[in-house]
Amino acid sequence: MFLVSVLRYLLVLLVPLSLLLSTYLYLYPVFHLCAFPAPEHDANTAWTNTLRQHLSLSTFDAKKVAPFRLLALGDPQLEGESSIPDPEAATFPHLSKFWKDAFLLDGTEHNPLQRLRHSLHDLVDFYLDDIPKSLEVYRKRIDHFGNDYYLGHIYRTMHWWTDPSHVTVLGDLVGSQWIEDDEFEARGWRYWNRVFRGGERIFDEVASTPSENFEDTRILGENAEAWKQIILNVAGNHDVGYAGDLSPVRMDRFIRVFGKANYELRFQLPVNSTILDEEKPVPELRIIVFNDMNLDTPASSKAMQDETYEFLNDIITTSKDVSRPAHFTILLTHIPMHKEAGICVDGPFFDFYDGYFDNGVKEQNHLSRDASKGFLEGVFGMNGNPGVAGNGFGRNGVILTGHDHEGCDTYHYINQSDPPEREWQAKRWKDAVALGINEEAGVPGLREITVQSMMGGFAGNAGLMSLWFDEETWDWKFEFMNCGLGTQHVWWLVHIVDLITLGVGLAYGILLAVEKMSREVPRRHMGNGTAKTSNGAGKSSNGSAKLGNGHVDPGLVEYLKTNGNLDAPGAGRKSLRKKKSRRNLHDAAAGN
Ligand SMILES: *[C@@H]1O[C@H](CO)[C@@H](O)[C@H](O)[C@H]1NC(C)=O
Ligand SMILES: *[C@@H]1O[C@H](CO)[C@@H](O)[C@H](O)[C@H]1NC(C)=O
Repeated sequence: MFLVSVLRYLLVLLVPLSLLLSTYLYLYPVFHLCAFPAPEHDANTAWTNTLRQHLSLSTFDAKKVAPFRLLALGDPQLEGESSIPDPEAATFPHLSKFWKDAFLLDGTEHNPLQRLRHSLHDLVDFYLDDIPKSLEVYRKRIDHFGNDYYLGHIYRTMHWWTDPSHVTVLGDLVGSQWIEDDEFEARGWRYWNRVFRGGERIFDEVASTPSENFEDTRILGENAEAWKQIILNVAGNHDVGYAGDLSPVRMDRFIRVFGKANYELRFQLPVNSTILDEEKPVPELRIIVFNDMNLDTPASSKAMQDETYEFLNDIITTSKDVSRPAHFTILLTHIPMHKEAGICVDGPFFDFYDGYFDNGVKEQNHLSRDASKGFLEGVFGMNGNPGVAGNGFGRNGVILTGHDHEGCDTYHYINQSDPPEREWQAKRWKDAVALGINEEAGVPGLREITVQSMMGGFAGNAGLMSLWFDEETWDWKFEFMNCGLGTQHVWWLVHIVDLITLGVGLAYGILLAVEKMSREVPRRHMGNGTAKTSNGAGKSSNGSAKLGNGHVDPGLVEYLKTNGNLDAPGAGRKSLRKKKSRRNLHDAAAGN
């Protein structure tokens, strides 16, 4: 049949194309040369070593794997039903109104002309309003559905290929703080079951509060399998609201679905204890997950803001001495630190409610200058005054933030020899490195990485941060890189091509089976000399004509040979033949 050969040629084209595209999509971190930076090595080495690890090659070098590998994802912002305009349009309200008006179902009395006018009106609204709107509703729903799996693809593939030790999502897990509870639950379900499938909400008892006698210090590398499944969720403005609209209700549901918003984790790196002494204490890592939504004022809930301040205070007072070596602090929070316009895509911006929510913060791009200073000088113990403890150089660490979807990499520093007013400044990290500011004497500073969003519009990014310990300098070091999948269109394209291939393959298979069947039946009946060919398969007349023309498919001959008894000269036992042919029909239909 012509159609069959067309499909066959299509398959010859489609199958390799699908395989190629799918291989690319499902192994994209491999093709994009992504890997956690290896301690003291270049990106190539890190990638090759990851490949060796996956292939279980003996050349794999475990020393090139950093003990702490953080997969950092920004702003997934799951949208849902509430972000669809007119979801009721999908129920065709004007169509039901049409029935009502046309048959006066709701008991109204209209004269025939009015009745006609109303009904026609309803019909026009049905065609020109309901149908376009409902198409849009379905388009949006499909969009959300695909988006969940697109984001899930990023998480699953990156998690598999890079093998992180920890995972964080830096806030704005869902797309709006204004959604109702059931919608929040629904998006939470999608978050855990589609996007971060296999991921775990952190257990409340694991997420510790800071204290003098901290007892929850863990060993880095122990329970590795459990830790890599736990997702350190940060609260963002779309999860709980800005200071103005953050309420206990919003906070409670966030904590219930995504885990605590404020806590700390401490790890120790196991090292050979014989080399430890006073100058070389055991290496420690402190991870602070911090809700900075109500750090700035005014906040509508003073009590909640006090809680935030209290937590920050506890973090600061329970910090290790600034001069303690081998200590590293990672601060995970949502809103980025203050910086002048032009350094990142988002410049400083504040907006406040006017007359509502105690005139609280309605929106902000950055933390205020003071709040940022609080982090740098409080949590990290840095100072413009070289006379303070540790000469103002503070603690080693890094701040990871979200919020600015475009991402940014900055260096905050303070020039101790810049009289009279020493102020915190910021530059792009690569500019700071080029100018040598990060190594300048008398200029303490800290790097802040704003992780580019994982949404399709921002190239499906994932951040890879490696932290390792340098025994020479007895201090921690880290490296960061981005790995993007590409827009969601890539994901859609590959899956649509796959679906088309599958569909064509299926159609081809069915046609082939039908063809086989239709050749079976007439052949048998021809031998028998009866005219009951059409009995069973409509296409049989077609097939018999071809047989008659002598176009016998070699495959069919093969088939007939292996099912040879069918060709046995007819003995006139019609009833038996009929049964047989039925059975063979059945077999053929089953794809035999
Ligand atoms: C620890 O270091 C000492 C001295 O360098 C060495 O003899 C010992 O084998 C090391 N222990 C381990 C477990 O590596
Ligand atoms: C710090 O201040 C000193 C003295 O004013 C100046 O020479 C130096 O260039 C400044 N460094 C930076 C990074 O601004």
